[in-house]
Amino acid sequence: MSLLPHGGKLVQAFNPEEEYRTLEGKLNLDNIALSDLELIAIGGYSPITGFLNERDYNQVVENMRLEDGTVWSIPITLPVQEVEVKGIKLGEKVQLVYKGEIYGILAVEDIYRPDKEKEAIYVYGTNDLAHPGVKKLFNRGPIYVGGEITLVKRPKKKFAEFTYDPIETRAIFAEKSWKTVVGFQTRNPVHRAHEYIQKSALETVDGLFLNPLVGETKSDDIPANIRMESYQVLLQNYYPEERVFLGVFPAAMRYAGPREAIFHALVRKNYGCTHFIVGRDHAGVGDFYGTYDAQKIFNQFTEEELGIKPMKFEHSFYCQKCEGMATTKTCPHDHKDHVILSGTKVRTMLRNGEIPPSTFSRKEVVEVLINGLKQEVGTY
Ligand code: ADX
Repeated sequence: MSLLPHGGKLVQAFNPEEEYRTLEGKLNLDNIALSDLELIAIGGYSPITGFLNERDYNQVVENMRLEDGTVWSIPITLPVQEVEVKGIKLGEKVQLVYKGEIYGILAVEDIYRPDKEKEAIYVYGTNDLAHPGVKKLFNRGPIYVGGEITLVKRPKKKFAEFTYDPIETRAIFAEKSWKTVVGFQTRNPVHRAHEYIQKSALETVDGLFLNPLVGETKSDDIPANIRMESYQVLLQNYYPEERVFLGVFPAAMRYAGPREAIFHALVRKNYGCTHFIVGRDHAGVGDFYGTYDAQKIFNQFTEEELGIKPMKFEHSFYCQKCEGMATTKTCPHDHKDHVILSGTKVRTMLRNGEIPPSTFSRKEVVEVLINGLKQEVGTY
């Protein structure tokens, strides 16, 4: 398995020296666009060098590929309001502004009006506004602006101690002599099922890159600061230090299920992973996707064109009869012997100060979550 970034070259587009003060035009970024700008610039989204122009956008939406045929499953776009593009000319460089501060420059290549209904159906598989990713898509500006970017200022790091650019993680994995590295995406605390699939993967690869997403998530997901604490206690107590590396993924969550699983894998390849874990309903929400849709979508591509190997895991649970973690692949017992709690149920329990069973979550993790959520509520 090659360790080349997607498309062959790691994009590097952070240049604080580039002149931006004299530029006249400006476009506003929302939270998602700001995190996308940074991820493009640090090479997380290689080979993408900017917000997608219309041709690439259409190809990504319809065929999960860029115009040149490279696999890419989520459109990375810059949505703006109609009034913002009045007077902006193609070929012009404009400032990219978030809350009054300039973070980047965009060389305007394209200004177009997307068909969001179509984008919703193709990318999310639904146009239902009850889907948080679809709702967000429709709430963002109606006009997309495409073109190459330069990042001139790094957004404030939420977890500086755990923030590494792809160029850094690649060097770190090489220094650890990890030839094979499995990436793990999560937007949740790591429960026993997550731990089980990570450790199963660790039986075959050299290292685990625990790479929790800390960009924008929906409001009922557990806040990233609490999750970060929970990951640390879990690693300290249950993982061999020299086999795991914790670093954050600053992207926003799209909840696009299968399409986002491909995207998550490609980005982790850019961070230096050779393998990527895809479990049950990866990046899913509610009942919008089938349990294994996010695994099946990998069959649409060859291993060569993805350049990262998915490690697919069945729905895992604790079995009272086996007295251990298992899946239907390894456990013959009845459903009623299995400890299965939905994410929503667990969040409700935690918010009420109730302790989920240790067969579901490690006690150290539960303590962090209950304390964190108490303090969170206390601040309102
Ligand atoms: S996600 O939106 O980031 O995918 P989550 O943090 O819950 O959500 O999942 C992280 C990874 O663990 C995903 O690959 C998901 O498919 C997998 N996963 C979560 N729960 C289970 C489970 N009980 N069994 C197997 N895989 C799981």
